[in-house]
Amino acid sequence: MQKVLVLNGPNLGRLGSRQPEIYGSLNFEQLSAEVTKTGVELGLECEIRQTDSESELIGWIHEATDAKKPVVLNPAAFTHYSYALRDAVAELTSSGVSLIEVHISNPHSREEFRQTSVISGVASGVIAGFGFNSYLLALRALSS
Ligand code: DQA
Repeated sequence: MQKVLVLNGPNLGRLGSRQPEIYGSLNFEQLSAEVTKTGVELGLECEIRQTDSESELIGWIHEATDAKKPVVLNPAAFTHYSYALRDAVAELTSSGVSLIEVHISNPHSREEFRQTSVISGVASGVIAGFGFNSYLLALRALSS
């Protein structure tokens, strides 16, 4: 089975209690269960991780690059300012491995600072605004 890393940045471990009017009422475990189930249906073995640390997230992107593993990435707030994460993603995608940037909300319809992604320019594709379905659509894109 094709292995996929599903990586999540800061505060996504707080899903369920964090601004449910924006991110919904389901928690990170429930997101992980949905991702795992859809992955199996699509023939993908998903490993799902979350960290609040930029350094740890960058390390995981390096791991994906070395192992040539495709990635679904919700960079959370790092989306808007982490050039270090962008540089790591650029190495991954320029080596021919896919990375799909996902967001639960639609950052373009929110505050101005969220309307810039420093990641999108080096991602293989971007899916935003469909709740947890953004992740499931990304898996579908990777499997096709
Ligand atoms: C987010 C959008 C970001 O602006 C925000 O910082 C997040 C979550 C989303 O999934 O909608 O933490 O990436």
